Amino acid sequence: MKLFDVYPINDINIVRAKDSYLWDENGVQYLDMYGGHAVISIGHTHPHWVKRIEEQLNRIAFYSNSIKIPIQQELAEKLGKISGKNNFQLFLCNSGAEANENALKLASFHTGRKKIIAFTKAFHGITSLAVAATDNAAIIAPVNETDNVIFLPYNDEQALKKCFQKHGGEIAAVIIEAVQGVGGIAIADEFFLQAIRKLCDEHNSLFIADEVQCGYGRTGKFFCLDHAKVDADIYTMAKGMGNGFPIGGILIAPQIKSNHGMLGTTFGGNHLACAAALAVLEIIEKDDLIEKAKELGQYLMTKLKKFDGLQNIRGKGLMIGFDVADELKDLRKQLLQKHVFTGEAKPNVIRLLPPLSISRKQLDEFIGIMNEAIEELSPHPLKENFERVE
Ligand SMILES: Cc1ncc(COP(=O)(O)O)c(C=O)c1O
Repeated sequence: MKLFDVYPINDINIVRAKDSYLWDENGVQYLDMYGGHAVISIGHTHPHWVKRIEEQLNRIAFYSNSIKIPIQQELAEKLGKISGKNNFQLFLCNSGAEANENALKLASFHTGRKKIIAFTKAFHGITSLAVAATDNAAIIAPVNETDNVIFLPYNDEQALKKCFQKHGGEIAAVIIEAVQGVGGIAIADEFFLQAIRKLCDEHNSLFIADEVQCGYGRTGKFFCLDHAKVDADIYTMAKGMGNGFPIGGILIAPQIKSNHGMLGTTFGGNHLACAAALAVLEIIEKDDLIEKAKELGQYLMTKLKKFDGLQNIRGKGLMIGFDVADELKDLRKQLLQKHVFTGEAKPNVIRLLPPLSISRKQLDEFIGIMNEAIEELSPHPLKENFERVE
């Protein structure tokens, strides 16, 4: 049987991983500045994470949500403490798209309304309503098309106000990534996020923060929205939550009431996934990874700004992007040849999403390799010479 061919694949077979490094079948070492698409938070195969999963696996991996699963409550308490959203409620699922799907559905149940405001270049996942709220016509199947989603320009407060004036009583929710990932590391202005909060309050709509990529400490706060000092009504989470073990979830504000059957899942919140997620939070807390993400992000941005040919360097914490000049259009490929994984966003953005546990030395190593790659590709002299750190 053939695999269904939906991914453009690099001809690399990774067989082992540790911290911020990966090794292929020939023993070649790669530096992971991509975190497997913002998934690796505490570092690959972290010993505490492995141990907790192993111990749980030997006790029980799964039973259905028809019984008490105390480790879910343990996870909810830890998450409440570290995120500061103690009064919120937790619903567990398995992926980012599923988290958004549940958030949008819940907003519709809660408000009794149908319309969703999403933003240009948004990416919320590829399931039914999540993909309908994703600004990419190429991945919306005819069956997913709906006129319930209104797309507005990102960071355009006037457009948002006008839309609420026209449709206010119909809007169930506004969904936004406080930093767009797939969209190319576009950062929402704090005043714009505050305006969303205000307009949602005025019109009894819900504010959904899609924190699947920008959340879980990556930007130097637990939730990226925290930078704007406002709360969402629903936060969606996945990627960094399990450090590679599939788990997603939504945090739900206290005023939103549940009833049996309104949301549900077979696998969500299983014992094994909760053990993985608890291990992640324990390491985030113990190693102060959120504060480190902030500091290391600033360090990396300062270093990146010294390169000619990289434009519009932007980001928060360890969620960083830059545009590459035309003569550096092959930079990402060149970096991969030099055994560094990075992310991209079309047409010319390189995205950096390393594990939050990466060290300053590893960032220096990356900068050294960037220096070589840029020199090989570009006729321009660099602003400053960097020495390769071995
Ligand atoms: C912001 C955002 N939301 C949702 C998703 C979908 O997550 P998943 O691929 O786990 O369904 C992604 C994935 O890249 C994402 O970046």
